[in-house]
Amino acid sequence: MRIAVYPGSFDPVTNGHLDIIKRASKIYDKVIVGVLNNASKKPLFTAEERVDMLRDVTDHIENVEVDSFSGLLVDFAKSKGATVIVKGLRTVADFEYEFQMALLNKALNPEYETVFMMTDSKYSYISSSMVKELAGFKGNLTGLVPNEITERIEQKYR
Ligand code: PNS
Repeated sequence: MRIAVYPGSFDPVTNGHLDIIKRASKIYDKVIVGVLNNASKKPLFTAEERVDMLRDVTDHIENVEVDSFSGLLVDFAKSKGATVIVKGLRTVADFEYEFQMALLNKALNPEYETVFMMTDSKYSYISSSMVKELAGFKGNLTGLVPNEITERIEQKYR
């Protein structure tokens, strides 16, 4: 059984993330979305809220699970029996950081393979930080995040 972990902050999940989750779920037997529970990043949503949103938007995909983690990604992957780390790439700006992380994770545990998936071009400009900025200015989030969670984001800025 090939298990992949798709890690991130998901603060909040975007349509770009969801697209990667759907595509990864067709390649791997199981995809475990790992929500980083890191208070030092000062997230807008608690880890529980981020996990809930991800569960709501992925509950129709049967081989996807969502869980939070703190500590090292490679330790989380190990605890889940995963051998693959899936990351999405949007632009070349993502590449340098992701390349460094992939090499570091490989150095920490050579058993894990990081696999990069290119974003669908229609999502390449979407990021959680842009979504938050837009929501802060009461902008329209249609098409950027799954409809099920729009209300929860807007509520944070009311
Ligand atoms: O969505 P993000 O914020 O780009 O996701 C970053 C994430 C969660 C993938 C990354 O910060 C991570 O893996 N953090 C866990 C700690 C870790 O293993 N760091 C690398 C070695 S120091």
